[in-house]
Amino acid sequence: MKLISEENGMIRLANGSFSYVMYVDGTKHLQHVYSGKDIGPFDKAQRESILKDCYYEYLSPEGAIHEEKDGYGGDVSSEVATAGLGDHMGSAIRIAQNDGSFSTEFLYVSHRFYPGLPSLKGLPYARENGSICESVEFLLKDALSGVEAYLTYSLFADKNVLLRNLRLVNPSKEPIRILRAASLELDLPGYAYDHLHFFGTWGRERFPERVALMHGTLAHSITSGRSSHEENPFNVLLEKKADETHGECYGFNLFYSGNWKEEITVNERNNTRVIEGINDENFSYELEENEEFIAPEGVILYSNEGLSKLSQTSHDFIRNNVIQSPLAKQYRPLLFNSWEGALFDFSTQSILSYMEEAKKIGTELFVLDDGWFGQRNDDRHGLGDWWVNTEKIDLGKVIAHCHELGMKFGLWFEPEMVNPDSDLFRKHPSWALGHPQLNRELGRHQFPLDLTNPEVRDNLVSQVNAILDHYAIDYVKWDYNCFIQDAYSSHLSKERQGGVNYLLVKGYYDLCERIVMSHPKIFFEGCASGGGRFDLGTLSYFPQIWCSDETDPAQRIFIQYGTSFGYPLSTMGSHVSISKTASYTTKSDLAFFGSYGYEFNPSKLSDFEKEELKKNAKNYSQLHKSLIDEGDLYRLLSPQEGNFLGLLSVKKDQSEALLLVVSTLKKITLSFFVKLPGLKDERRYRNDFNGEVHTGEFYRTVGINFSPKWFDEFHSELVHLKEE
Ligand code: GLA
Repeated sequence: MKLISEENGMIRLANGSFSYVMYVDGTKHLQHVYSGKDIGPFDKAQRESILKDCYYEYLSPEGAIHEEKDGYGGDVSSEVATAGLGDHMGSAIRIAQNDGSFSTEFLYVSHRFYPGLPSLKGLPYARENGSICESVEFLLKDALSGVEAYLTYSLFADKNVLLRNLRLVNPSKEPIRILRAASLELDLPGYAYDHLHFFGTWGRERFPERVALMHGTLAHSITSGRSSHEENPFNVLLEKKADETHGECYGFNLFYSGNWKEEITVNERNNTRVIEGINDENFSYELEENEEFIAPEGVILYSNEGLSKLSQTSHDFIRNNVIQSPLAKQYRPLLFNSWEGALFDFSTQSILSYMEEAKKIGTELFVLDDGWFGQRNDDRHGLGDWWVNTEKIDLGKVIAHCHELGMKFGLWFEPEMVNPDSDLFRKHPSWALGHPQLNRELGRHQFPLDLTNPEVRDNLVSQVNAILDHYAIDYVKWDYNCFIQDAYSSHLSKERQGGVNYLLVKGYYDLCERIVMSHPKIFFEGCASGGGRFDLGTLSYFPQIWCSDETDPAQRIFIQYGTSFGYPLSTMGSHVSISKTASYTTKSDLAFFGSYGYEFNPSKLSDFEKEELKKNAKNYSQLHKSLIDEGDLYRLLSPQEGNFLGLLSVKKDQSEALLLVVSTLKKITLSFFVKLPGLKDERRYRNDFNGEVHTGEFYRTVGINFSPKWFDEFHSELVHLKEE
């Protein structure tokens, strides 16, 4: 299938279901013509009809007056909006020119098509992994500074995913300052859209909020140095009438784990523009001669069948084209984590008995969390000192015993941080980030390390790899527990300080390349005080991320529900914990709809509680991989709109499905049917809730009748449907 074509001056990326059309106009500006349902190529009249607002008159430097009928005209249909061209909807690229101005005009020079996807130097990016993709790269040149913009668009044949990449190169001898280089710009006609975004805080991540667009600019700007608990880079623009199963939705995301910003502007003529990329606050990046700046890869997702379909597209994309580790597609052992049960208070003996008890409830991978290294007996000491605290733990013995019990072994690290009370800080105080002449604020008693400094990165790589190479470790949890308070690097020159935030993120990816990618047999899970770095950059290296430090179902219901809009269930670390709100059955059913695990003191479980965990321990090996890790997700009941969470995950071949229903309030269900989409109409399925057998069509139109069931507060049902 040919994905990119060129006709009537238009370059069209189309896969039969989604198309994205651009046009190089008579003034050599790259214009956006269309993005949406693929309705075939446009002729000149159709193009003019779409762009008819764009009348434009200009005086060339030579003194000639030109008129462009469908040329670049004011606030509409640009691909690279800049200051200085009558566009007032916000720039995608901003340059501080050497004459002191911001006047910038990127003009088309050439373009080329190529099969496959671009690869990015020093940043994570999507991979083909068997998908068919094609790309078009434009070379544009700023008429004033000569800065070259390489702008690449890539489309997938098998899913409605468009990638957008921007690389700026300075060919002149004069250094140039980049003040903004957004990964995404999308202009849409009209403003009849809602915006769905995912805000939060620690312990309450990715809470969906849908708001109507308004005239003016709606912005989200993250400055904490991580993609954040406060707002997720994934967000959606959707038609007002769109819901889970109907309507047009445009999803946006970034391969980036640091400060980012999004602006959605509706102008006075009712045009909409989305701009998303690295945050330009505290950002000013100097480009020397022949240097380049690479913006993070931007992602546009499209569905005209509502939000569940958009999520499925995003999930397939993440599972197949974002996550790099082949281990992600293998069976993931049922995990036990020591943190909530033991905290820092453990010994060799107590961990050995933890492991034995954990084994009895089905654990297949035992993870020793924080507290095994340096002088780390609480969170005030030891970060930075990645040597085993042999007075506290005999790690070799613990690992050997774990393997003898037939379980894999995992260990916790937080490589990017340092406590002031550590050998590393005492030896290298300047390695901690922040201005030494100012008060430096700590977060959880620690500083982020200056990852812009290659010496710091080398030190961390050798410390962490020494442990990973010496011990038989099967899994690593990689944490990141504080904000960036002051992005000052003692290592960089004054010209480079404006790029520190960006270079820190590149430093993180460099560590991932040299630690994670050099250990392909170790499964790595990401974490940042729970879900503070849940993004495509992190997922490139970490197939799963601890979704939130909050494990109480009262809050977890919303966290997992919200996270599912952008991210697959297999990426959401979800554990049964000691929280008191709900029974172990409910906690286990809810955690099962994520990457499942346990996190409590196993010797404190009652026999009844152990019994409650048995069902899903059995389900896990039989159902989890094909139904939860690999299935198609449908959100059926929103806990924000009613008193139930309802999620359905359907096996790719539609032969089986798992339904989760959790109530948030006590309810006598006199009449309560849950309709199930996603099954094959003509096939017959037995469900293990009431043992009935019905066709897929019946489940879709009538549903499962839960009416005789008394739903107590936080009661759950996990229902397995199997084709007869
Ligand atoms: C963070 C993580 C927890 C745990 C602690 C250890 O808070 O989110 O799961 O690992 O750190 O200090």
